[in-house]
Amino acid sequence: MKESTVSEIKDLILSLKKNGKIISFVPTMGNLHQGHVSLVERARKESDIVVVSIFVNPTQFGPNEDFNNYPRTLDEDLKKIKEAGCDIVFTPEVLEMYPTENERLNNNKSELDKNISRTMVSAFQKNKVLCGKFRPGHFDGVLTIVLKLFNICMPDKTYFGLKDYQQYILIKDMVKMLNLDIEVIGCPIIRDKDGLALSSRNSYMSVEQRKKALSLSKALNSIKNAFKEGEKDNKKLKGLGLSIMSDDDINIQYVEIVDSETLIPVREAGEGNLVAIAGYCGNTRLIDNIIL
Ligand code: PAF
Repeated sequence: MKESTVSEIKDLILSLKKNGKIISFVPTMGNLHQGHVSLVERARKESDIVVVSIFVNPTQFGPNEDFNNYPRTLDEDLKKIKEAGCDIVFTPEVLEMYPTENERLNNNKSELDKNISRTMVSAFQKNKVLCGKFRPGHFDGVLTIVLKLFNICMPDKTYFGLKDYQQYILIKDMVKMLNLDIEVIGCPIIRDKDGLALSSRNSYMSVEQRKKALSLSKALNSIKNAFKEGEKDNKKLKGLGLSIMSDDDINIQYVEIVDSETLIPVREAGEGNLVAIAGYCGNTRLIDNIIL
């Protein structure tokens, strides 16, 4: 079943909840790959009704980012999630989610460089590190849309891929801080056979760039191996990742080893820490991570 207005999907979900159904929810921006499919399949096993949203959310893109070019592949997406066991798809238009968005869309600008009045959800501190440092406003946009979608879809459980690890932590924090009765479930990163973490943005890369992009998983694995062999020095471990990625022409944004809950950098690496990396391969921004 496909719904695209807030009132329709709310009515539908309210009636299912009245009948005692356990609702799970997988928010997406479409252009779905096996990573998204794995979330839907897991949700299918753990609930009565699986809801998926497909919405390219303008408020999480910066002014020079790829909102306009983000791949929109609705027909293929609908097929994939149906096969994976999705019951209800929510596909709102931008104005359905942001009724005051007209002006910004017409001017093709981010809300960051316009003084548009609106209520947003903000995460302090943890939105300033890792990706947040390089994408100002991004996580406010993510949290705002995810909270709106939670309020609309009223899930008992929600599923997020751990490739976007910082996003997962910020959503878990939001749910706790705002007293939402939703279980947030983080699901493993799905990789191609050669190690590249699946991402909707991988399709932007040429064959040559895709080969270079393997540098991210190579860097993470080398850091983890060195850690297993006894290296604990954060600087040395980071240095290893940085040199692998720069040899492969990745325009590095960061390599960080942080506490996996607070996201604060550790001096000495320890088991359970998160190694997170980001960089550009050509014009494509890639992120990846591994737990030590
Ligand atoms: O991870 C994504 O695809 C998006 O950030 C999300 C969670 C669907 C919000 O737009």
